[in-house]
Amino acid sequence: MLPAGTKRKIIMDCDPGHDDAVAILMAARHPSLELLGITTVRGNQTIEKTTRNALHVCQWLGIEVPVCQGMSRPIVRDPPPVEDRLHGDSGLDGPEFPPLKKQADRRHGVDFIIDTLLSAAGQITLVPTGPLTNIAMAIRKEPAILEKIEEIVLMGGCYQLGNVTPAAEFNIHADAEAAHIVFTCGRPVSMMGLDITRKALCLPAVIERMEKIENRAARLFAGMMRYFSMTQKRVFGWEGGPLHDPTCIAYLIDPSCIEQKSMYTEIDIRSEQSYGRTNCDYFSLRKEPHNSRVAVNIDVEKFWDIVEQCIGLY
Ligand code: BDR
Ligand code: CA
Repeated sequence: MLPAGTKRKIIMDCDPGHDDAVAILMAARHPSLELLGITTVRGNQTIEKTTRNALHVCQWLGIEVPVCQGMSRPIVRDPPPVEDRLHGDSGLDGPEFPPLKKQADRRHGVDFIIDTLLSAAGQITLVPTGPLTNIAMAIRKEPAILEKIEEIVLMGGCYQLGNVTPAAEFNIHADAEAAHIVFTCGRPVSMMGLDITRKALCLPAVIERMEKIENRAARLFAGMMRYFSMTQKRVFGWEGGPLHDPTCIAYLIDPSCIEQKSMYTEIDIRSEQSYGRTNCDYFSLRKEPHNSRVAVNIDVEKFWDIVEQCIGLY
């Protein structure tokens, strides 16, 4: 527990993306968090588009933090397809943004992560909500950052069903070698996987509830979620878009909304069919030391209360 009044310092590493955008919205103003910067990665769309989307969200919400463009492709493999089925051609289809004035910071995302960690007095929490390429590159480029990482709170993986193959979740599958580096880095990893994020379905009633707040953040939320729910219904049949990435921020704000189980998680980087699977050893069958705290349940009501509180801060 942090002493009263202390803010937890975080860096968000993301690929906006509708649910990434909601995560940014939630992290930027909450009194218990200090958002030091945003780094972008190729994932839901190309690196140019995810960076542009992060800038649009920051400009719209008046978020004054550096946005640093990161890796444009995975560390080892060829880039997989972008997720335009769900996020559209821009990566953030739905809301209309005014012309972009905010510019990306000149620093590379990987260097921003390294420099910010090394120069910090204390530790910083990393919050990756896209493929783990930037985080893994930073760890390999400057291993001295490891002791400055308080925790890595990531959205990715699943111990049940995947969403890009039957076995794998999109963020891990998009750069499984990077995920392997992160899960074996020795720092605490909290994994928010599809097992719980699929319970955070943004149903029409949720959109209406948030829209009642009637501020810029509420309008952005509703514009994004109407589009996202439509594509999620088309692709997966859900009645609302799962808010995957915001579960990381909800956990940081109020850990009691997520139930976790400590376990050993190994990333499949060898097989064909199951490439990118997070093999979560739920029953400790392998007797390996635990390297992750995997989310196994979410208090959905509490989650929406946190989202509502965050939107209300604008
Ligand atoms: C993850 O993939 C992306 O499409 C979302 O932004 C989220 O980070 C869910 O599998
Ligand atoms: Ca994402």
